[in-house]
Amino acid sequence: MSSPITGTSAGNSALLAACAARRARLLAQLPPGAVAVLATAPEVLRNADSEYLYRHDSDFYYLSAFTEPDSVLVLVAARAATPARAMLFCRPKHPEREIWDGYRYGPEAACAAFGMDAAFPIDDLDAQIATLLADAPALYYALGSPLDARVRIWRAALRQQARSGISAPPSDADLLPLLAELRLRKDDVELASMQRAADISAQAHVRAMRATRPGMFEYAVEAELLYEFRRNGAQAPAYNSIVASGARACVLHYSANNGRCLDGELLLIDAGCEFDSYAADISRTYPVNGRFSSAQRQLYELVLAAQSAALQAIAPGQPYSEMHQAAVRVLAQGMLDLGLLQKDVHGNLDDVIANQHYRQFYMHGTGHWLGLDVHDVGQYRDITAADKASRALQPGMTLTVEPGIYVRPAAGVPECYWNTGIRIEDDVLVTEHGYTILTAGVPKTVADIEHLMQHSQQS
Ligand code: GLY
Ligand code: MN
Ligand code: MN
Repeated sequence: MSSPITGTSAGNSALLAACAARRARLLAQLPPGAVAVLATAPEVLRNADSEYLYRHDSDFYYLSAFTEPDSVLVLVAARAATPARAMLFCRPKHPEREIWDGYRYGPEAACAAFGMDAAFPIDDLDAQIATLLADAPALYYALGSPLDARVRIWRAALRQQARSGISAPPSDADLLPLLAELRLRKDDVELASMQRAADISAQAHVRAMRATRPGMFEYAVEAELLYEFRRNGAQAPAYNSIVASGARACVLHYSANNGRCLDGELLLIDAGCEFDSYAADISRTYPVNGRFSSAQRQLYELVLAAQSAALQAIAPGQPYSEMHQAAVRVLAQGMLDLGLLQKDVHGNLDDVIANQHYRQFYMHGTGHWLGLDVHDVGQYRDITAADKASRALQPGMTLTVEPGIYVRPAAGVPECYWNTGIRIEDDVLVTEHGYTILTAGVPKTVADIEHLMQHSQQS
């Protein structure tokens, strides 16, 4: 039996056990007998009858490991003597479609391969759900999603049975915040996939660094990244790769990647792969010709120092926002020291921070949660606290640390720094005692980058 092209989940007993544990953790939070319904992502047409590469829904995958489209997961929380149940609704077997589109499990094989309690053809969902929802105390699903319309139909059908004493769930509740909270702390199976995604992405950055030569097009450097991703089994880039040389590095979401990398420019690469549904997200910035100019080195060392300060702010119990404040403090001081900001115009360090003058050159946050989504789910603030303070970091959380500096031509800014964009981004796991960097395999000191590149450019 082959596995679906988008994943390797079936038969992976650690993954299936992890999914069962995640379902149990979710159901433990629901009232007895409550029903949770979760649909995977739809296929999306690119044009005519060509589809975009299919990507399942992250929440759906988190609870099922199932990667086929047209699937719905229904969970029922235990009630009295009735144990909890997990039911998968998926595409039925279809010998002719399988000739065109490839293998599909069908309910029978999927039930066994993915450790479900039952599985049915997707077209049976409406009929089956009527029984499951009858007298259930609550329905949990993604409020505001396309399932809304389906739920209205289910409710209408249940109302028709009111005379038989059957009642619809008195309330609908949002499933997604519960899942977001669970997904925020990664289990061991997730961390193994994330480390692999990080390792492959790190290798890809090293390959790109080694391959870069003055005169190359950005897309040719991007090709080196993609080659390394795919040859190591990553399913896809986790997001649109940014390969931006010179002034283009100041465009935060640049993705055309069609300019030339010129001698004397810095090249900013922000790229990471998705491995078994988990993202890596790495940025490195290095000289196209292998040697930093002195102005480039000044800015680079500043961003590196900001990243180091941000990393030192990561430990269990520390507020998430602390790393941003640490990075901003270092960057703002550097902007004053290098003359990007002037004391007589912008004031001292505290003024620059209080008035956010640093935002002229550093206008984004210092990181985000990372996981199944590159900008992963999960609150950044304690929404139960009156002041909604930044939430405390906990072991098992994974995040990026990515300070940068972007200097566009402007009056009062020394010309030697113009058109320079730098970002240094690593992926970090919060541990019991501090943190570990998942993406340590790519050089980031000036000396290490120059050593790697000079060694490569000779060969
Ligand atoms: N690559 C997206 C980000 O760095 O947030
Ligand atoms: Mn990022
Ligand atoms: Mn990034």
